[in-house]
Amino acid sequence: MADASPFLQALEGKRPARTPVWFMRQAGRSLPEYRRLRAGKNMLDSCLNPELAAEITAQPVRRHGVDAAVFFSDIMVPLKLAGVAVDIKPGVGPVMGKPYRNASDIWELVSHAPGYATVITEAVRLAAKKVDVPVLAFAGAPFTLAAYLVEGGPSRDHLAARALMHSAPQSWRMLATWCAELSLQFAKAQIAGGAKAFQLFDSWAGSLSRGDYLRYCAPYSRKVLEGVRALRIPTIHFGVGTGPLLTDFAEGATCVGVDYRTDLADAITTLRKHGSPSPLVVQGNIDPAMLACGPRLLDAHVDTILDAGKAADSHILNLGHGVPRQTDPHVLTRLVQRVHRL
Ligand code: CP3
Repeated sequence: MADASPFLQALEGKRPARTPVWFMRQAGRSLPEYRRLRAGKNMLDSCLNPELAAEITAQPVRRHGVDAAVFFSDIMVPLKLAGVAVDIKPGVGPVMGKPYRNASDIWELVSHAPGYATVITEAVRLAAKKVDVPVLAFAGAPFTLAAYLVEGGPSRDHLAARALMHSAPQSWRMLATWCAELSLQFAKAQIAGGAKAFQLFDSWAGSLSRGDYLRYCAPYSRKVLEGVRALRIPTIHFGVGTGPLLTDFAEGATCVGVDYRTDLADAITTLRKHGSPSPLVVQGNIDPAMLACGPRLLDAHVDTILDAGKAADSHILNLGHGVPRQTDPHVLTRLVQRVHRL
């Protein structure tokens, strides 16, 4: 069953009989059944309701027949479990009770211990019973979490977080260490519930220079990846706009998630040239915009990506970022069926 899954085989560097496919944000607003279940309910409260989170996790698997069930939750959930004031506002995103900008703010923040995550373990356990594909655990990378914490909410270029790492490196180190610990605990809670693989969302790493990423962020992302690998769980490392960081992203990860701005063929060439890693497993990278372009253009785009993926040892098909909320779900179902047929 799950152990013979094409998704897990691909993560071992094998070429399964069919190319595995799943979508970031497959559980969410593109699905009418999701909108019905979530109506009138707060996002973070829904994430802390095991039965609800399990059901939402299973919805896209039933509908689309995807090869992995990414656990329905959010990168901000561990903050909530630790007792930090945070909310996810519809159409806005994560909003903190206050921004954490200086040494005393951050000192106060890191005094929060990771919370009990038994509801998360329970939710994954229930989800795993509902689906016949592996459940994929995930967490936010320290920089992506810190960007919300320091800014106090969503931001375009994460200016305050980037300023903090340079102006107060000791506070930054404390913050990033704490974020890594929270994300690792969140991952472990999902793995305890039966998740079989893990994706680290280093979403905003692309807003950093390579030097800053390597100095201020990579060591903390690596702590999470290494902590998960120590449990013999394969890891996927994904970020947006991370073309220049791909070889760094490959370090310590089983699979590199390629975003839609980077050509998959170029990404594979770069990774091969730098001798990393073996086997070379890549995930990506359909441009989410192509989902709205009609079957002819979408099929041609997907075929180009599948072709490019053949240069790696194995390839997991995914979008180069999340499913846009206005996506027609039938487009996704058809895409999965076509890829499985090919
Ligand atoms: O299906 C899945 O991918 C699994 C569940 C998942 C969610 N968020 C559900 C969600 C995952 C893996 C995430 C990760 C996440 N959350 C990231 C990293 C991925 C990325 O997008 O780069 C980030 C940055 C967040 C923070 C966050 N949470 C944002 C920016 C938003 C969108 C705000 C909005 O309304 O536009 C959320 C809310 C959120 N997380 C929703 C879902 C399904 C929408 C909530 C709703 O239905 O109102």
